[in-house]
Amino acid sequence: MHLSVIGCGYVGLVTGACLAEAGHDVVCTDIDAQRIAQLQAGNVPIYERHLDKVLASARQSQKLSYTADAGEAIRGSEAIFICVGTPPKQNGDADLSAIDNVARQIAAEARSPKLVIEKSTVPARTGLELRRALTAYSRNNEVRFRVVSNPEFLREGTAVEDFLHPDRIVVGVEDDSSAADLRAIYRPILERNFHCPVHNGTCPPERPAELLVTTISSAELIKHASNSFLALKISYANVLADLCEKLGADVEQVTHAIGLDPRIGTQFLRAGLGFGGFCFPKDLQAFVHLAASVGVDFDILKAAERVNKERVGRFREKVRRALWVIKGKRVAVLGLAFKANTDDIRFSQALEVVKALLEEGAHVHATDPEALSKAKMLLPAVTYYEDPYDALREADAALVCTEWQAYRSLDWQRAGTLMARRLVIDGRNLYSPARMRELGFEYYSFGRE
Ligand code: UGA
Repeated sequence: MHLSVIGCGYVGLVTGACLAEAGHDVVCTDIDAQRIAQLQAGNVPIYERHLDKVLASARQSQKLSYTADAGEAIRGSEAIFICVGTPPKQNGDADLSAIDNVARQIAAEARSPKLVIEKSTVPARTGLELRRALTAYSRNNEVRFRVVSNPEFLREGTAVEDFLHPDRIVVGVEDDSSAADLRAIYRPILERNFHCPVHNGTCPPERPAELLVTTISSAELIKHASNSFLALKISYANVLADLCEKLGADVEQVTHAIGLDPRIGTQFLRAGLGFGGFCFPKDLQAFVHLAASVGVDFDILKAAERVNKERVGRFREKVRRALWVIKGKRVAVLGLAFKANTDDIRFSQALEVVKALLEEGAHVHATDPEALSKAKMLLPAVTYYEDPYDALREADAALVCTEWQAYRSLDWQRAGTLMARRLVIDGRNLYSPARMRELGFEYYSFGRE
C-alpha cells in the first residue's frame, strides 16, 4: 500500500521507517524543509536506538522517501499517518493547531479517497473534529475521507522495538473497511513477516500482538488513559519512597514485593526524581483538562502531577542537607536526558535539578552520553564533559539524575579517588546503599536508608 507520514519527529520517523521495513511504500514529509534535506542526505536527526539500521535498510529497499512537498505526499498515498506534535498550551490543553493545518492541507490536496490516520496523541473527540475539517475544506465533494485513530505506545529509546514488536495495536474506526485496511497495513508486523533489524532476524518468541478494533473516541482515550496510569504508578512509588524514608523501610523491597502480584506488575514502580519527557507531563495535564471540560474531576491524576512536581524540591533538600552550603560547591551531575537511551531533554527532571543548583550558586559540571549538545544550547552556564570521570574530578558531590546503564556500572572506587569529597546523591536509586558505604561514600537516595 502507498502510505505517507506527515511529521518527522521521533514518532513519524519511526513509523515511516518501520512501515517501509514491513514492505510498504512510504513517503514522509515535514513542514521543516531543513529536516527533510537532512533525511534525504541520509542523516538521522535524533538519537533513537536502531533507527539508523531501519532507515538504512528502508533506503536500500527504496521503500522510503522524503519530500518537503506535503501535497505530493498526500496525492500519492492511499493512507496518511498524521504524526505532528500536539504540545501543551499555557493552560494545559493540547495545542491541536498542527493537526488542524494538516487536515486542511489534506482536504485541499486530495484528489482520490484517503484513509486519514491520527497517530499524534490527541484528546478524545479530535477524530470527530478532524473529520469535520476534512469535509469542510475539501475542494472536491467526490473525495471520500475515512478517519482512523491509531495511537502509538512507543517509548523513546525503544521506539523501533516497540513498533515492530507491539503488545497491542489499537485502531479506532468508523467502519469495517477502515479496520480491514489497518489490519492489512499492520499484517506483516502482526504475522512477524518482516526482516527484523533489531534482532537480526532472530526475534525472541513472544505472544503475537493483538489488533484491537474500537471506536475512535475509545482509541483516543486509551492512549491518554494508558500514559496517565503509568504516571500514576510512578507517583505512587514516589510517595511510598517518602513514607519508607520516614518509617525506615526500603522502597525497592516494597515495590518489588507488591509488583510480583500480577494485578500490579513490577514495571513503572521505580522511585526517584520522577517522570519527565514530552509525553507523561503533557498527557497527564491534557487528560485532567479534558475530564474537567466534561465535568469530571480527575483528582487522582492531579495528585500524581503534584507529587511529580515536588520530586525536584525533595532532591534539592537532600543535596542541601548533605552539602550544607550549596553556593560555591562543585557539583557533578550525571545524566541530563529525561531518561536513559535518548538525547531528549524536554521536561527533563535532570534539567530542573541543574537549574535549581545554578540558582543556588553551585558550579555545575555535567555529563550525559547523548544529550550534551542539546543541553549546551539551553544551559550555557554549565561545564560539560563527555567522560563522567572528568565531570567527577574535584567534585564536592555527584548527583545521579538519569538512569543510564553507563552510570550503573561506573567504577566508584576510581571516581572516589578523583572527587574532592566522597558524596553521592542518587536521584534514580541506581546503587546499593551498603556497597556505596563500603566504598567509603556518603550515599543518599530515595526511600532507602
Ligand atoms: C511514554 C510511554 O511509556 C509510551 O508508551 C508512550 O507511547 C509515550 O510516552 C508517548 O506518549 O509517546 P516515554 O515518554 O518515552 O514513553 O518514556 P517512559 O519510558 O514511559 O518514561 C517516562 C518517564 O518516567 C521518564 O522520565 C522515566 O525516567 C520515568 N520513570 C519511568 C520513572 O521515574 N520511574 C519508572 O518506574 C519508570
